[in-house]
Amino acid sequence: MEKTLVLIKPDAVKRGLIGKILSIYEENGLSICRLYKKHLNKELLAKHYEEHIHRDFYPSLVEFMLEDEVVVVEIQGDKAVSLVREINGATNPSKARPCTIRYIYGESVQRNVVHGSADLEDAKRELSIWF
Ligand code: RTP
Ligand code: MG
Repeated sequence: MEKTLVLIKPDAVKRGLIGKILSIYEENGLSICRLYKKHLNKELLAKHYEEHIHRDFYPSLVEFMLEDEVVVVEIQGDKAVSLVREINGATNPSKARPCTIRYIYGESVQRNVVHGSADLEDAKRELSIWF
């Protein structure tokens, strides 16, 4: 069993998609362990996205992530880390496979609805930030 972190991003929260998105993980055999809704701040985002702080898109990413609350979710299951990434789909929704969350609901490379930890090490690091 693995645990991983999902963030339901502000675009999805604004559009009332929390329930639909959580259902997709559950339909794929994953369990929701813990979750809460939170308005983020720049300090938390800098910890979470530390690998991206110096990227061109970072200021715009921060602005987007502060648009509304996010839902912070701990998800558990067999191969949960890679399974969540598969269910989320490619970063750019226009390149995501059909049936993935980003294919269905994503609007752009930035407004792509969900975050999922990249690997097991990241999952541990991110879960310790958020829980
Ligand atoms: P995530 O971390 O959110 O699960 O997404 P990811 O691994 O698929 O993508 P990553 O490269 O880690 O990027 C983090 C988030 O930053 C935004 N982004 N914007 N070129 C751009 O404008 C750009 N590239 C990335 C997206 O919201 C992406 O999910
Ligand atoms: Mg990432």
